[in-house]
Amino acid sequence: MDKYRREFMELQLWREMLTPYELAVDELVLKFRHIIREYRNVGRYSPIEQVDGRVKSISSILDKMQRKKINVNDVEKELEDIAGIRVICHYIKDIYRMSDLLLRQDDIHLLKIKDYIKNPKENGYRSLHLVVEVPVYLANEKVMVPVEIQIRTIAMDFWASLEHKIRYKFEGKAPQHINEELKACSDIVNMLDAKMLSLNEEVQALPKVGVEEHHEENVRMQKMWEENKIVDKLQKK
Ligand code: GTP
Ligand code: MG
Repeated sequence: MDKYRREFMELQLWREMLTPYELAVDELVLKFRHIIREYRNVGRYSPIEQVDGRVKSISSILDKMQRKKINVNDVEKELEDIAGIRVICHYIKDIYRMSDLLLRQDDIHLLKIKDYIKNPKENGYRSLHLVVEVPVYLANEKVMVPVEIQIRTIAMDFWASLEHKIRYKFEGKAPQHINEELKACSDIVNMLDAKMLSLNEEVQALPKVGVEEHHEENVRMQKMWEENKIVDKLQKK
């Protein structure tokens, strides 16, 4: 019985420690969702395709502590990715736009930035990593919580998920030719991202074809109609 009680208490302590990280993740995900909604509401394409957040599981935290020989008292100081956000953008330019936009918010404090787009990892990994600090309001205090934010394109994300799968499967010791193929894929991803960006910019600079204008107007009418319906509903309540 004692053993169970001890384990329960331990779990309780973990839960207490992780709560601010959960709040920080929720808050940041909401910030990014607001940005997406703002763009979509005015009928513009959103630079963010998707945003996800997670708090590292207790077992992953324990694994990492063992791997990096981190003392239990130093966990919060040493692990910057207990709270993690992943933002997926369409184009490389959007990555920097979103990062600037976020860092301009005055409750976001930048701790660290790693640009694996300008300086890709040796295996071909590309992404922009930010570690920021956000304030979280608990019942009786305000705490600053570090959050790791990974911002990458859809193509970079595609690459990273395959690389992750391969690394997991071979426990980090994949055959040489597979690593080489992965590196080659990363170069293709880089080329694709660059080409898609320039193609998109070229298309954006061209004027719209007439028929589209009617479509835009119709979309606007549809939106007004939906908004009125919501107002109607609220008034009836
Ligand atoms: P960690 O010990 O993994 O935290 O590395 P780090 O402290 O040097 O930080 P870094 O910014 O390099 O990596 C942080 C996170 O980015 C990792 O936990 C992964 O989620 C992701 N990441 C970094 N490198 C790679 C990679 O080569 N492949 C994939 N798929 N993800 C990566
Ligand atoms: Mg790290």
